[in-house]
Amino acid sequence: MFDILFVMIFGLSGRVLTKDTDTKGRFSSPVLDVTEKQLVIERNQTLQLSCRGRWELQWVLPSGVPKLYPDTHIVNTQCGKKSNQYCSRLTLSPALTQHTGSYRCRYRQKERKQTSVYIYITDSQRPFVKVQSEIPDVVYMKEGEPLVFPCRVTNPDAKVSLVKFPLHRITPDHRNIIWNSRQGFIIRSPTFFYIGLFSCETIVDGVKYTNKFLTHRPVNKILDVYLNSTGLVHTLQGEMLALNCTVTAEWNSRVSISWTYPQKANGSAIISKRISRSRSNMLFYSVLTIPSLSKADKGLYKCQVTSGPSKRETNTTVIVYDQPFIRLKHRNGPVVQAFAGQKSFRLTPKLKAFPAPEIIWLKDGMVAAERCSRYHVDGFSLVIRDVAEEDAGIYTILTGIQQYGLFQNLTITLVVNVKPQIGEKSVSSQQPGTVQRGSRQALHCTSHGVPPPQIQWLWHPCPPKGLGPARLA
Ligand SMILES: *[C@@H]1O[C@H](CO)[C@@H](O)[C@H](O)[C@H]1NC(C)=O
Ligand SMILES: *[C@@H]1O[C@H](CO)[C@@H](O)[C@H](O)[C@H]1NC(C)=O
Ligand SMILES: *[C@@H]1O[C@H](CO)[C@@H](O)[C@H](O)[C@H]1NC(C)=O
Ligand SMILES: *[C@@H]1O[C@H](CO)[C@@H](O)[C@H](O)[C@H]1NC(C)=O
Ligand SMILES: *[C@@H]1O[C@H](CO)[C@@H](O)[C@H](O)[C@H]1NC(C)=O
Ligand SMILES: *[C@@H]1O[C@H](CO)[C@@H](O)[C@H](O)[C@H]1NC(C)=O
Repeated sequence: MFDILFVMIFGLSGRVLTKDTDTKGRFSSPVLDVTEKQLVIERNQTLQLSCRGRWELQWVLPSGVPKLYPDTHIVNTQCGKKSNQYCSRLTLSPALTQHTGSYRCRYRQKERKQTSVYIYITDSQRPFVKVQSEIPDVVYMKEGEPLVFPCRVTNPDAKVSLVKFPLHRITPDHRNIIWNSRQGFIIRSPTFFYIGLFSCETIVDGVKYTNKFLTHRPVNKILDVYLNSTGLVHTLQGEMLALNCTVTAEWNSRVSISWTYPQKANGSAIISKRISRSRSNMLFYSVLTIPSLSKADKGLYKCQVTSGPSKRETNTTVIVYDQPFIRLKHRNGPVVQAFAGQKSFRLTPKLKAFPAPEIIWLKDGMVAAERCSRYHVDGFSLVIRDVAEEDAGIYTILTGIQQYGLFQNLTITLVVNVKPQIGEKSVSSQQPGTVQRGSRQALHCTSHGVPPPQIQWLWHPCPPKGLGPARLA
């Protein structure tokens, strides 16, 4: 079908050619002088191909034809009646079996416009295109891709079989196992069965010829990448930085670990590597060490891992301080307020320090946590549970970094507000008594609260006798 179509196009262009007009669409691709899609010639014969087109032409030859093969001749001419076409003649003499392959003629400027013919160059003593040494070729298996044993042949009619070492003959089934004289054996969905030593075999005139292959399945599975400090790393200038990147990968895999870090151009880091195996995995360690940090070493540190096509990375940010420091300030002024009965209250000054300081909270000069079981230190805050009036007082936070002789204190005054209460109300309610008219009476009201409550007296006249509530309404 294809061949017929090809002949038709060729015939058509031939006809137009004689008219030598420049019809649009003609020679949209270059045209070869052979109409077949494949040719079979014998070794030592001369291979000759001609190509014609509208623009400058170029040949693409099989990889088996050396770039500078002295027996390849290409003659380019202007042709056509008005010499407005381009012709190119390729001559290869003598043709050798390793020249078997696809010969393509294309436009130099439009490389996708091309025409090709597959040429088999036969030799009964060289049925396989590739002549192999005793060492098998390695064929890599990739997940999700077909496996190809590239034992292409010099004769399209060669009978080739695939054998798994030592003696397992595999027959093509046209579905998963396919024989193609131009490619070799193709296994569409290879399984673990296809790991091992294989050979393509053919017998010509009673002589057996083979092409051997060793399949290899590279393992590229990175299971985990772990940096022993993620997030922020705070350090001091002059100190040592050590980051440990641990990679867990599948058995038999190989990984490459690389680091990127701010002073990489300087090469300020020392990187050491180690590999260990556990029962089920491989562990790769890469430890980056900077013996004495400078300010310029601050920034992002990335551990990048690759294994074949797999990639993983993890990072951490390093902050380098000039010197140790404590910065301690009030958050909401020196006096803070709480309410008696509050579930909890937190005394939190603003504190920034490096390295982490030691902290002690005092209340009225005594260690707070020892004074009352309702006090506890959380981070650098002091938390008071079930706030009571007696919690009012002066609190002091002492911070210190002993090794650098850094100390700072801060004092906070806590005011505990208490709702006013009338003392007499807690005594049993007094019945209205009678007193003598004209006598002098003192009424007492005792009240307590924080801040001290203001007392105001109100007088409610008794309703006139006999005037019941109903009448009033
Ligand atoms: C090709 O030529 C070589 C020597 O030039 C000769 O040894 C060989 O037998 C020839 N092969 C064929 C198939 O004619
Ligand atoms: C860091 O690397 C060493 C190997 O150099 C390893 O023994 C150690 O377990 C790793 N992990 C941590 C958290 O340091
Ligand atoms: C990370 O690992 C290195 C090397 O094992 C170690 O020196 C360093 O102290 C570790 N860092 C942290 C934060 O654990
Ligand atoms: C590292 O590079 C900086 C400039 O980026 C340069 O000032 C410094 O001297 C270099 N340090 C070393 C150890 O080469
Ligand atoms: C660093 O790692 C975190 C996750 O661990 C990621 O979200 C972030 O994009 C990374 N940053 C850079 C600059 O690669
Ligand atoms: C902080 O308070 C402690 C104990 O009250 C005192 O000994 C020390 O001198 C104070 N330090 C500073 C820096 O005020």
